[in-house]
Amino acid sequence: MEKALSYAQEHFEDSVTGLEDFLRIPSISTNADSAGEVKRAANWLADELRRIGIKTVEVHETAGHPIVYAEHLVDDAKPTILVYGHYDVQPPDPLDLWTSPPFEPTRKNGVLYGRGTCDDKGQLFMHVKAAEAYLQSGDALPLNLKMVFEGEEETGSEHIVPFVRENKERMKADVVVVSDTAMFDEGVPSITYGLRGMAYVEVKLTGPDRDLHSGVYGGAIENPINALAKLIAGLHDEDHRVTLPGFYDSVRPLSDEERATYKALPFDEKAFIADAGAPVAKTEKGYSPHEASTGRPTLDCNGIWGGYIEPGAKTVLPSTASAKISMRLVPNQTSDKAAEQLERYFKEHTPDTMKLDFKYLHGGKAVLVDTTIPAMQATAEAMEGVFGRKPFFTREGGSIPIVADFKEILGIDTVLMGFGLNSDAIHSPNECFGLERFRQGIETSIRFMKIFGERVA
Ligand code: BES
Ligand code: ZN
Repeated sequence: MEKALSYAQEHFEDSVTGLEDFLRIPSISTNADSAGEVKRAANWLADELRRIGIKTVEVHETAGHPIVYAEHLVDDAKPTILVYGHYDVQPPDPLDLWTSPPFEPTRKNGVLYGRGTCDDKGQLFMHVKAAEAYLQSGDALPLNLKMVFEGEEETGSEHIVPFVRENKERMKADVVVVSDTAMFDEGVPSITYGLRGMAYVEVKLTGPDRDLHSGVYGGAIENPINALAKLIAGLHDEDHRVTLPGFYDSVRPLSDEERATYKALPFDEKAFIADAGAPVAKTEKGYSPHEASTGRPTLDCNGIWGGYIEPGAKTVLPSTASAKISMRLVPNQTSDKAAEQLERYFKEHTPDTMKLDFKYLHGGKAVLVDTTIPAMQATAEAMEGVFGRKPFFTREGGSIPIVADFKEILGIDTVLMGFGLNSDAIHSPNECFGLERFRQGIETSIRFMKIFGERVA
């Protein structure tokens, strides 16, 4: 391992410039116009894997964006890990809030700015660089390595699920390794053992068959935007709880022990709120911001539109109003059930003056991983080697639905070794990733491979 570690150190600048090339490709999965760029990013990544010496590298076309699959098998008797990551990114808008162009990676005071720096190109690249450090330094790769990178994570991972089903035998491993989450704080490592699930829907109300003059018809014809706003407002009560009947029925409550664990964490609530750029927090009554945003289910309108939104005034009574709504779920909720409850609510409360379209877009289950499994312990040991302190075990509020699918299809757990920070502004303007964390991530991966590789599988 020593050779691999020094290789990574000596080639760190190359690792950063390599990442910068990767980041220049605007692989925005949700935007149909960017499909060519998403493909270019897949091919770039595959070429990089070949360049560093991975034996088998394949780019699989799907009905959506490609899946990059790679294997470097060294010894049947050694454990096998499956590294997962996503090379697609979120759209960069609003562009005017970026201080440097989103797809022109820019270094400032040891921090790399650009879309995908943290989520997830920068983080997946840490494992690629760790593999390179073994393959190029003369230190033998200490375990069997499989890697799968998708280009649809940000849009619901539609095609990787059937891919995993079809390649179940081939993708067999002892554990999945994912770096697509955050760590506790700068210099304070953590392993994420819980993620929230998700149900994502789109609703549309249609009233009149075209936009009308709001003076001629206002008062006589009901306005879809007014109606939709009222429906959305009705989804929370005074205590900021979700009002959908049955929404909390299958929620596994936070136990006293879990709540004590939350309390014991040195979570900086003030900094968390400040990072959000919000004046104060607003949580479900009775829960702290940390609990509410990671261990409790929530419902948020992600976008709402209709009518006239261009500059100046146009007095219309709009024909339609639409909204995208996401629900973050916790064990043991299911996305189907939550979406069904939401659909029932809209069906029951949509006024008879309009038509409802309700579309379920995608979803996934929450996960909780046993912190005592060998891969978790190996990660903890690896992190201790890098940071000089033991990591915390934490839950996070974001979703990586494929983690539950890996468990269901391959029967294996995932260790979430994240190096992001809430202040990295993922999905927001000025997304960034500290270069020291990039370095720590590479070193953690190198150490993890060695420690886990020596474990009896
Ligand atoms: N990297 C995030 C997930 C994440 C964010 C985990 C913060 C932990 C903390 C991932 O790329 C993401 O954004 N996922 C989507 C999934 C959705 C589209 C199903 C999400 O959470 O919104
Ligand atoms: Zn991500």
